[in-house]
Amino acid sequence: EIREQVEQLLGRMSVEEKIGQMSQVGASNFSFGGDVESEPVEVLIAKGKIGSILGAFDMNQVLELQRIAVEQSPLRIPLLFNADVIHGFQTIFPVPLAWSCSWDMEAIRKACAIAAKEAAASGITYNHAPMVDVTRDARWGRVVEGAGEDPYLGAAIAKAQVEGFQGESLLDPDTLIACLKHFIAYGAAEAGRDYNTVDISERTLRDVFLPPFRAGIEAGAGSVMNAFNLYDGIPIAGNTRILRDLLREELGFEGMLISDYAAIDELVIHGAAEGGKEAAAQALHATMDIEMVTRLYEGHLPALLAEGKVAEEQLNAAVRRILTYKFKIGIMDAPYRYVRPEEAYEHYLSPEHLEASRVVARKSIVLLKNNGVLPLAPSRKLAVIGPFAASRDLLGPWQFSNYASETATLLQGLAAKGFTPKQLLYAEGCGVHEPLAGGIERAVEQALQADMVLLALGESSDMSGEAASRMDVTLPEAQLELAKAIAQTGKPVVLILTNGRPLVLEWFENHMSAIVESWFLGSQAGHALADVLLGDYNPSGKLTMSFPYKVGQVPVYYNHYRTGRPLTESNSSQKFISKYIDGPNEPLYPFGYGLSYTTFAYSELALSRAELRTGDTLEVAITVTNTGSRAGEEIVQLYIQDVHGSVVRPVKELKGFQKLLLEAGESRKAVFTLSEEHLKFTTASMRHEVEAGQFKVYVGGSSRETLTAEFEWLA
Ligand code: IFM
Repeated sequence: EIREQVEQLLGRMSVEEKIGQMSQVGASNFSFGGDVESEPVEVLIAKGKIGSILGAFDMNQVLELQRIAVEQSPLRIPLLFNADVIHGFQTIFPVPLAWSCSWDMEAIRKACAIAAKEAAASGITYNHAPMVDVTRDARWGRVVEGAGEDPYLGAAIAKAQVEGFQGESLLDPDTLIACLKHFIAYGAAEAGRDYNTVDISERTLRDVFLPPFRAGIEAGAGSVMNAFNLYDGIPIAGNTRILRDLLREELGFEGMLISDYAAIDELVIHGAAEGGKEAAAQALHATMDIEMVTRLYEGHLPALLAEGKVAEEQLNAAVRRILTYKFKIGIMDAPYRYVRPEEAYEHYLSPEHLEASRVVARKSIVLLKNNGVLPLAPSRKLAVIGPFAASRDLLGPWQFSNYASETATLLQGLAAKGFTPKQLLYAEGCGVHEPLAGGIERAVEQALQADMVLLALGESSDMSGEAASRMDVTLPEAQLELAKAIAQTGKPVVLILTNGRPLVLEWFENHMSAIVESWFLGSQAGHALADVLLGDYNPSGKLTMSFPYKVGQVPVYYNHYRTGRPLTESNSSQKFISKYIDGPNEPLYPFGYGLSYTTFAYSELALSRAELRTGDTLEVAITVTNTGSRAGEEIVQLYIQDVHGSVVRPVKELKGFQKLLLEAGESRKAVFTLSEEHLKFTTASMRHEVEAGQFKVYVGGSSRETLTAEFEWLA
């Protein structure tokens, strides 16, 4: 039925109106680049020259602009309202890198569903999330928005996020259209510098960067956004091989393809198009449906059509996709159905939403070190020191909440657990970047009066996210100075980190009693941290990005290829080995790593068969025992290695994970099922297939600590 309605409407549209649907402007009359002058937003809408609006966070503005579209534009077609609702709308959840460490798909799905519920009652219909770029380079600021370095886990999380944002039906007014971004390989920017060149093989593109997009498309994502980078020398906004051939034809993506901010105009800046006209043609040929903020489609498509350089059928295809979603979300019949102020205000920071945020936040925390000082005894006298002890900068980048001032701080979280003011000494010690006059002295004084120190250090939220790449992924010097002075007091020190990327922590590993990685935990950060510090929640998070020893190791990731001269325990003193002469190859904390207040032992790894072929499945069973004295959750991870192939395979690849809750002393079996699909890769012939031969299976509590067994795939 929608198809017919779309065709009818399309049949009534002029070329200008079609181009209008393909054009998006910012809500604030803000335009970026491009060689076409623009008119005020309201005028453009009234003329039918706009199909969607970016960043209308004010419900009154949404109403006003929608009214112009519905009452004044020639065909009365309502607008889509786009925004970046990445990890919450008003109630903020942990940043995506954090929630990926929960490895908990239901928790992530629920967080996205709540974000959608709040945003969709506030006028937003189209979300620029999830970001599903695989991220291996800690220097890149956008690692904070993704699910880390692994394509298999990334695919599972992409699916959970799409399901969360879109719900079961886009007609449900509590849902948003999800947009998978950024297609593709944006995370491979050279040297981790945002917007920089990408130059990777097609095999890496397919085996590493594609799986989360494939999973998101299979989950029904309504939109995809292009990446800013090149692929094989051609910027993706105009790359037909990537967008038309791979995304549309091979992956079967039928939704709306939107350009990233000014990316069509950047075809010119890259030097891939001679001018705006050629850029517009390239983008249309690549099947780009919506141009974000620049006006090249409006300025150039009419002439390109007249000259026969593009065809009206290409416009029709784009407009069909856009209109289809306008019908699907119900705005064609009820243009104001996403503006429900009373309901919206009831949702914002509701007890239910805050509780959900706290639950995800607890699960996102990763305990990196603990020499027994944690969990804290409530009778202790604590010195809470550092720029993040009382800070509310705990929401992270990519959030636009109006309630940042209600973020629970670490000190508030501890106070809510019953610590009295006398038990909670506080000193800021230093700023995030700068020393404070007398700050270290005051902090040391407080530390000396306490039983132990909670040292809250980290990155401010503007140090990660878009356009926030760093060369040196360490803590700023002022904070290192503070940490050294506090360590010298001899008191036990627990480092609590707030940050948006893996950091270099070798000195802290050597000098701290415990290290708690909290990322940016969102609205309930302080409470979630206190839950973990006091042991009311036993930490269970596992890293989804490796933490380097030194920045020079970056990019460092667990699923790397084997070299011809691999470093082993027995050859480390030899010269001509693939190694550093000034440090280890391995990261400090690997992918999949994270401690608990209890301990787990793995035993009895058993495979259901030693050989398999098409149609067979392999069961991999392992016994996990809680060998400590308190209940805890363990994320059991299964990896494989294809021992040799037509192209070399990574040393390990995640192919399964399960979260087990075990009482103290309890043993349980985890059983994984492997099938042909898990063993496929892009072979030398560029086909996605499995090759006969030996495979290894590894199962354990991190990518480093595993038991191993073998099986064979028969041709
Ligand atoms: O959605 C974002 C994208 O991830 C980066 N550039 C800006 C877009 C719109 O805000």
